[in-house]
Amino acid sequence: MHERPGDHATAQTRRRYDRLSRYYNVMEWAAERRAFQAWRQRVWSLAEGREILEVGVGTGKNIPFYPQDARVVAVDLSPGMLRHARTLADNTRAEVDLREMDVQRLAFPDNAFDTVVTTFVFCSVPDPVKGFEEIRRVLRPAGKAVFLEHVLSDMPVVRPAMRALSPLVRPMMGANIDRRTRTNIEAAGLTVESETDLWLDIVKLFVVRT
Ligand SMILES: C[S@@+](CC[C@H](N)C(=O)[O-])C[C@H]1O[C@@H](n2cnc3c(N)ncnc32)[C@H](O)[C@@H]1O
Repeated sequence: MHERPGDHATAQTRRRYDRLSRYYNVMEWAAERRAFQAWRQRVWSLAEGREILEVGVGTGKNIPFYPQDARVVAVDLSPGMLRHARTLADNTRAEVDLREMDVQRLAFPDNAFDTVVTTFVFCSVPDPVKGFEEIRRVLRPAGKAVFLEHVLSDMPVVRPAMRALSPLVRPMMGANIDRRTRTNIEAAGLTVESETDLWLDIVKLFVVRT
């Protein structure tokens, strides 16, 4: 495959998450119990249809929330993160197919899925618009996407602080904390059906249609 602009950033993101994979569950433990698990439940209650794609499955924290009768293909850039997801995938009733894959070039045909889900992924995808375009391509007509993502705040003081801190957070956590995710979703030609604030105006739940 020929090299494309952004390949270097993508390789860097993969290395960061391979490195973080050993500590990721421990790092997120408190937040997971305080808030994330309830949000995950809400996200997965919105999934429609049997053919589901989870992008950026990470260590598999969403797997216990998959609808039991679904067939979920769950992809991630990082083999290190995917290794942790394996145990959870082997112990759920849903049919789970784990694959190493980049959302910026999904190896699926057009119109393949009823629902696509991401949780805390688009902060680290180097070219988010390209990733959302790929999601639009693989969703069937009138397909649904549910994105739980942290975004750049509109609040005075907080907004400039997030912008200033983002270059410092990225090398440590792999995350850009200054992403304008709704703009990126719409730039990819997807329609935002609803946008709900889950924590301040920073953690948001987007329900999106093709
Ligand atoms: C912050 S973690 C979130 C993991 C999981 N979704 C969760 O909620 O715990 C971000 C994940 O997105 C993955 N990721 C980043 N860029 C990606 C890309 N271009 N394609 C696929 N996965 C990607 C990372 O490898 C990592 O596992």
